[in-house]
Order: sequence, then C-alpha cells, then structure tokens
Amino acid sequence: MLLTEAVLKLLNEQISHEFNNQTIYRNVQAYFSNLNLNGWAAYFGQQAEGEYDHYKHIIAYLDDKNAPYEINVLPYENYKFGDVKEILKKYYDTEILTTTKLYAIAEQSKVDNDHGTVDWLYTSLVSEGGLSLIAEQIEEERSALDLQAEVLDGLGDNEQLNMQWIREIDKRLFERVNG
Ligand SMILES: [Fe+2]
Ligand SMILES: [Fe+2]
Repeated sequence: MLLTEAVLKLLNEQISHEFNNQTIYRNVQAYFSNLNLNGWAAYFGQQAEGEYDHYKHIIAYLDDKNAPYEINVLPYENYKFGDVKEILKKYYDTEILTTTKLYAIAEQSKVDNDHGTVDWLYTSLVSEGGLSLIAEQIEEERSALDLQAEVLDGLGDNEQLNMQWIREIDKRLFERVNG
C-alpha cells in the first residue's frame, strides 16, 4: 500500500532527524577526542554510526516504496559543550526526543491503517543480526540513561577527583566498545 501523506511526512522528517543525531554525536566524539579521552570518543563514534544506520534504514524503506523524500539540513545548533554532565544530558534528551518521534510515526501508521509501516518499525532489522528501529531505540534510550547514572554516581565537588573518575569511565567505555 502507498504511504499516506501524514506517514510520509513524518518519515521524511525522521531522515533528517537521524542525520542530525549523527551530527550531534560526531561533535561529542570530537570534544572527547580533543581531550584525549579515546574511550569516550569511541563510544560516541559508535553512537554516531548507529544514527547513520537509522538514516540509511529509513531511506531504504522509502526507496522500496518508491516514495519521494528529501534530506533537510536542520537549523544551526551550537555544539560547544561545557562539560561531561551537559553532554550526558544532551545524549539522553536526544534519545528521548527520538523515541517520541518514532512512536509518533507508529501511532500515525496505526491511525492510517498502514500495518506495513507498523510492522517495518517493529520487526525490520536495521542491520544484519541487529534489532528493529524501535527495539534499537528503546535500547539506546536505556544506554543513555545508564551511562548518565554511572557517571553522575562518581562526580562530586573535587575537580581533580572528577577528572580521575572521567578517566576511569574512559577505560570502561574503551573496553565496552572494543571488548
Ligand atoms: Fe537513531
Ligand atoms: Fe540513537
């Protein structure tokens, strides 16, 4: 079945949204790379790759449907991050917003009786051996929340101890990405 105008509009917006997510995480990667925190940098590089996979996944679906789409550059955002706390908040907020947007697509597809798109959202794997777009999103939202909690747990008022803790997390993230 052809996509309804409403579903097509939301999927179009999602393409740009996923691309923008990639841009955010690439900027976070750059921030940590500059500080020589290579575990953190690798972790956010991996998140960026994931977002790019989502972007390609939606494009492939629209190509498959012979549906028109365009990729828009979203308004300029300042990516000068203050500190790790701010970055982790941005990470979690980005994932929450993305979940909300994907659920809205699922909701609209149901309203429009487009069970094909609902099925695609819940069962079509983003990559081989991976998860569906929504299952992956639920997992990413949890990872963002978990990392935020893990890091905040060890941060206090002492700058020097905070830096030690950030380096400890750096080691853990390096192992998680490469292990
Ligand atoms: Fe995504
Ligand atoms: Fe994500």
